[in-house]
Amino acid sequence: MSDAGIESHLLPDTAVIDDGRISIGGCDVETLAREYGTPLFIYDEKHLRARCREAVEAFGPNVAYASKAFLCVAMARLVHEEGMAIDVSTGGEMYVALAAGVPAERLVFHGNNKSSQELGMALESGIGRIVVDSWDEIRRIEALVEAGVTAPSVLLRVNPGIEAHTHEYLQTGVTDSKFGFPIAESEATAAIDHVRASPLMDYRGVHVHVGSQVFDVSSFARAIESLAPFVRESEAAEFSVGGGLGVAYVHGEQSDSIKEWAVVVTDAIREAGIEAEITAEPGRSIVATAAVTAYTVGTIKEVPGVRTYVAVDGGMSDNPRPVLYGSGYEAFRAIDADAPRPHRAHIVGKHCESGDIIVRDAAIPESLAVGDVLCTPVTGAYGHSMGSNYNKVLRPAVVFVANGESRIVIERETYEDLVARDAR
Ligand SMILES: Cc1ncc(COP(=O)(O)O)c(C=O)c1O
Repeated sequence: MSDAGIESHLLPDTAVIDDGRISIGGCDVETLAREYGTPLFIYDEKHLRARCREAVEAFGPNVAYASKAFLCVAMARLVHEEGMAIDVSTGGEMYVALAAGVPAERLVFHGNNKSSQELGMALESGIGRIVVDSWDEIRRIEALVEAGVTAPSVLLRVNPGIEAHTHEYLQTGVTDSKFGFPIAESEATAAIDHVRASPLMDYRGVHVHVGSQVFDVSSFARAIESLAPFVRESEAAEFSVGGGLGVAYVHGEQSDSIKEWAVVVTDAIREAGIEAEITAEPGRSIVATAAVTAYTVGTIKEVPGVRTYVAVDGGMSDNPRPVLYGSGYEAFRAIDADAPRPHRAHIVGKHCESGDIIVRDAAIPESLAVGDVLCTPVTGAYGHSMGSNYNKVLRPAVVFVANGESRIVIERETYEDLVARDAR
């Protein structure tokens, strides 16, 4: 936690602080908040495009954006325009990407429990690749192909017995996980042998995802080193290393770029004698820092001798990460983003949960007042996408900003939306 103003590396690429006021994509943030209402997700379109291009340059055209991090029609289009494939992990994500006009062949279908209906939709639309996750799924795909659809290109997701955490690497033997075929007990080998022998699937390669929020990229290299014998034996034409690159959220954190990650991963794979095409699925590192959320302060409560609570008009419904993972964030005011933040308060939401804390012990500026626009940076990943309308709080609007212009890409939910599917 720092008492100084917000650090620039936690802000979108085009953020500028001028006389205290922050603008993104040439748009003044406080003005956007007043115009569109709050809470408001503000995404820097140039930042998004730059990260997509960086990923394509680093990994090639089959690198896929992990759409679980943030997805809407405009985002799917942007990603496709910038040359990335898209990782979808449910029928819903697939539907949005297809509705955006992304060709099915540019989609990679993930998920630990794909239904026959979802697999049918994927196969009939001509999905690019399926990352197979279980024996049940293999049987479902085979049944569908036997019934007449074209055999899909498949990767097998393996459970590597390795976990890369924020700053460490663990060899766990068998990772206790619902995802993938364990390498242990030769499960993964048996699955690969089956797929390679099956006329109903076209074996393409191996997929692993070793962790999330991994700051120390050498963890990826060491994970790859221990996986190498398995990958070599699998004779994969493609080796996908999943996602997981760490992103700085708070003061003092630093993260590697997508390019730096790709160099480490590629070197480790080639040094291990693996010739396969290398692909990856970054999510957070594409979108997290691209966005800030703007809230309006509604209530400031002093609990004498204990602490100050600053309540804003959103909360765990637009950013569940603090509640789910204890994640930290920073907060700053839109009109004096570079001002010192000498005070401390919990920034809380408006939900009926004591745990509805967006920023614990936030550094806040002098004289923060009801009505101020307060922003949290690095909210572009797993915020809107993991959000809810708990307490029937309306899901926020999302705008993309670029070159001094803003455009709504997701409308704010309305009260009518809340009852639109209810029987009345
Ligand atoms: C299979 C897979 N690929 C990619 C990702 C994206 O990871 P990140 O957003 O950390 O880059 C995830 C995240 O959970 C994942 O499970």
